[in-house]
Amino acid sequence: MRSCVVRAAVLASLIAAPLAAQGKFPPDSLVNVKVLPKAGPVINFIGTMRNFAGALGVRCQHCHVGQEGQPLGTFNFVSDEKRTKLVARQMVQMVEEINRRLDSIPGRVAGGPAVTCQTCHRGVARPMPLTALLVDAAQAGGADSAVRAYRALRQRYYGRDAYDFSEITLTSAALRLARAGKRDEADAMLGLNEELFPNASGTALTRGNVVLLRGDTAGAVAAFREAIRRDSTNAEARGRLREVGGRP
Ligand code: HEC
Ligand code: HEC
Repeated sequence: MRSCVVRAAVLASLIAAPLAAQGKFPPDSLVNVKVLPKAGPVINFIGTMRNFAGALGVRCQHCHVGQEGQPLGTFNFVSDEKRTKLVARQMVQMVEEINRRLDSIPGRVAGGPAVTCQTCHRGVARPMPLTALLVDAAQAGGADSAVRAYRALRQRYYGRDAYDFSEITLTSAALRLARAGKRDEADAMLGLNEELFPNASGTALTRGNVVLLRGDTAGAVAAFREAIRRDSTNAEARGRLREVGGRP
């Protein structure tokens, strides 16, 4: 009986052993590598890991068990505890599949552009177009929440390729919110665009489309006229003005 318990304990420690922190970084060997190539120097594998972290704009502990500020030797890279690590494995397989398909497109030049984590993630953990992110924030927390989200993201990411901070993002969000009946939220998006891109013709054009959704034809005529005043070459505004029966 006793030896049985001892044997069970030894067995448990054998199973648990590879799951504990390795104590040394970089490790001498790779233990729990299932989808990435594990032949070759460990340091190349670590290079791939640094690319993952860079592409997602995160640190190792986003996917691995370990404390910020602690030496990497204390991390448990072998463990599959974090959901993000499991997702990353799937992503690796997805990227391989995409690139296999790319290699079979007609007329493909050998060594042509390939898809990497960066292609979609562009420095953010959960890639999402800014318009969709703002619409979600507005639906969940109202106009203020969407405006706050926009300002925070702009502060952090402006000048990088993570999000599109050009005029079109806020006008698209305004239109989508207006279609969903979110009046204040749509107005807030247009107000923010007016602040960031003063006198933009596109903002006035969208304002016309937004107020038209509320049945305000007179307001739409005024807004389309304003869009043309701001940019006389705005053909879409001219067309919309004609459609609602207004004269330039
Ligand atoms: C986006 C998630 C993600 C990030 C960020 C990440 N890793 Fe990984 N890491 C993985 C995945 C997934 C595996 C397992 C790959 C496989 O199964 O083929 C792995 C495996 C490892 C292993 C091998 C462990 C073993 O089983 O022997 C080491 C070492 C490692 N990562 C180090 C790092 C370091 C150092 C960083 C930070 C520079 C880092 N990782 C950042 C997802 C990540
Ligand atoms: C074709 C686009 C695309 C590529 C390429 C891509 N991802 Fe993703 N990734 C996504 C999308 C979209 C999501 C969000 C999925 C969701 O939450 O529903 C995501 C989510 C993730 C998540 C989970 C984030 C979270 O916090 O929930 C991880 C981790 C991740 N990706 C890692 C990677 C790694 C590592 C690579 C490269 C091997 C990669 N991705 C390549 C599109 C991509």
